[in-house]
Amino acid sequence: MLILGIESSCDETSAAVVRDGRQILSNVVATQIDEHRLYGGVVPEIASRRHIENIVPVTEQALAEAGVSMDDIGAVAVTYTPGLIGALLAGVSFAKGLCYASGKELVPVHHLRGHVASLYLTYPDLEPPFIALAVSGGHTHMIRVDGYTSFEVLGRAVDDAAGEAFDKVARTLGLPYPGGPEISRLALDGDPSRYKLPDPHTSGEFDVSFSGLKTACLNIVNTASMKGEQINRADLAAAFEQKVTDILSRRLIGAAEEYGLPACICGGVSVNGELQRKCRLAAEKKGIPFYAPDRKLCGDNGAMIAAAGYFEYLTGSRAGLDLNAYATSEI
Ligand code: KG4
Ligand code: ZN
Repeated sequence: MLILGIESSCDETSAAVVRDGRQILSNVVATQIDEHRLYGGVVPEIASRRHIENIVPVTEQALAEAGVSMDDIGAVAVTYTPGLIGALLAGVSFAKGLCYASGKELVPVHHLRGHVASLYLTYPDLEPPFIALAVSGGHTHMIRVDGYTSFEVLGRAVDDAAGEAFDKVARTLGLPYPGGPEISRLALDGDPSRYKLPDPHTSGEFDVSFSGLKTACLNIVNTASMKGEQINRADLAAAFEQKVTDILSRRLIGAAEEYGLPACICGGVSVNGELQRKCRLAAEKKGIPFYAPDRKLCGDNGAMIAAAGYFEYLTGSRAGLDLNAYATSEI
């Protein structure tokens, strides 16, 4: 069965055609990053407008690249939560219109379920249960994936999400948005031991906290500037990346060990090379299987929404033309 997936929760307008939740026929992503970079972060109003402009051509291109028409599509899956409300509404409204015009059924998809489903597209034989650490700009969730549509959140970021912390520290270092890849690149030439960053404490076993680290970086930069000293940006980037990836990999492998399940990462931050390396190494030591999505599927994309939508479809989940968008919601 072919699902047309539509994603517009943040700054990527994307549409994709996926067969049976596993095989990508097309995955068109129109990113707005260059425009938001001018403002140092995503401007919600601009994001909504660009989604409205891009959604039709992106969907047409996704159908064309897959070599199919709407007649071949079994159902339309759309991200309806969580995300920027105006951005989500652009995708939801378009998907509703498309379903009304084509007579296709509409399947609502939670964005984080989409990130988890990016793993099914990368590993055709991967099946639940497993532990998935979903790390993105808006979320850091430790999830026990019990089934394709059954999830238990074991822990989460109690303050800033991992990607958000990367973005904020990057800004402090004068790096452009989005900060994750910039910090990663800079950290390659840095010595992570030069700056000492704190070990954040959290009460929940699988919770994480990054705002203390972010503040520590800010203090280092401000103190140096007050003294008229130069900081070594590469060293600070390396120290920050090392700390965040240590915390995330330790938590993930700890959860996988406790529950006796494979360990997975997904979401925009999961593309981080240092995070992947540490998780892989720690998992190997414990004999735990480890999975990360294909690079192209780590960030937001329609294929992951189509894949998640397929499994939702099988459970009978459908939305009517009264489907609304929600800025926040549990997975
Ligand atoms: O999943 P995603 O594309 O959008 C959300 O759902 O939020 O994730 C975007 C986040 C941004 O915060 C970005 O800085 C981060 O992923 N990111 C990275 C890297 N590439 C993107 N963080 C760390 N290292 C990277 N290489
Ligand atoms: Zn995302």
